[in-house]
Amino acid sequence: MAETAPRFSGPKRVFSGVQPTGNLHLGNYLGAIRKFVDLQEDQEALYCIVDLHAITVAQDPEALRAQTREIAAAYMAAGIDPQKAIIFHQSAVSAHAELAWIFNCVARMGWLERMTQFKDKAGKDSERASVGLFDYPVLMAADILAYKATHVPVGEDQKQHLELARDIAGKFNKDFHAEDFFPLPEPLIKGPGARIMSLKDGCAKMSKSDPSDLSRINLTDDAAMIAKKIKKAKTDAEPVPENVEGLKGRPEVENLVGIYSALSGQSVEEVLAAYGGQGFGVFKPALAELAVDKLAPISEEMRRLQNDPAFLESQLEAGAEKANAIAVPILREVKQIVGFVV
Ligand code: AMP
Ligand code: TRP
Repeated sequence: MAETAPRFSGPKRVFSGVQPTGNLHLGNYLGAIRKFVDLQEDQEALYCIVDLHAITVAQDPEALRAQTREIAAAYMAAGIDPQKAIIFHQSAVSAHAELAWIFNCVARMGWLERMTQFKDKAGKDSERASVGLFDYPVLMAADILAYKATHVPVGEDQKQHLELARDIAGKFNKDFHAEDFFPLPEPLIKGPGARIMSLKDGCAKMSKSDPSDLSRINLTDDAAMIAKKIKKAKTDAEPVPENVEGLKGRPEVENLVGIYSALSGQSVEEVLAAYGGQGFGVFKPALAELAVDKLAPISEEMRRLQNDPAFLESQLEAGAEKANAIAVPILREVKQIVGFVV
């Protein structure tokens, strides 16, 4: 793993989060959750279900609770072991919201105004967006730094937010003469799957909020549905190209080949060597078989776990207790540094 701020002397610690907003998809799995599984082996890791972030846009309360359990189920079904990594929901640890307030007074308006995700999500009528949606990246910085986390596995779309978290950490350290108090968290983005695109439009990312269900492969899709979605995925009239050069200007084809590569562990070159020159009538069924092979066991285990909400909630409670034990002393130090009576 990359080194973090050279003088920060605390332990290496991994933190990441997923919003409980439904429709968990292949992009979430390949860009984030699969990396979480690998990282839990080597160091302390916290994997959060960010329900405070979810309410920056309207949520149905009962659905939100069910979706929180769904992410917990997905984490465990994908292979995150609650004995190795800490799995919990954000609202259960009040340090996130408390630190976010302090960071609100460190971050600058201009920094937040540059965030492209706010512009995308708020759309044309940004005056009507919630203040929380604008402030979203500050809460994200608080999530990470409440644990002094040093490494953050995320998909490509979170890069700008991570840069902001580094800026906030650096400014806090400087403003309060607390050199190296917070690490500058390192994003872990690289690798196949960092940016999975829609099956219907190779220029739009695969997203939970795309109105077309055919645009994404959900982790809850069964084998028949996965095969159907891949069959209907947009391509063009040409066969699979023989080399990487031939993917240029064919974003949908590049995406399908990228998905094959990420799921199989083969390089893009290897995939093209195997399928170059063949039509999509051959490539798509092969991709569908591979996707079903990798995803069906996860969705099956997710369904099994979701039948036991009490178990899932007990796991989250236990995780929150462990997370709290790390965050409370850090927050106490922060309060001391800022000048609160503690
Ligand atoms: P979200 O669904 O926004 O809560 O995202 C959860 C995690 O999945 C984050 O690390 C995202 O960067 C990652 N992610 C979301 N969509 C994609 C995608 N299309 N490709 C790769 N990673 C993604
Ligand atoms: N913003 C992230 C997303 O939408 C989710 C998130 C919230 C997160 N807090 C985080 C990711 C802290 C990494 C670290 O995907």
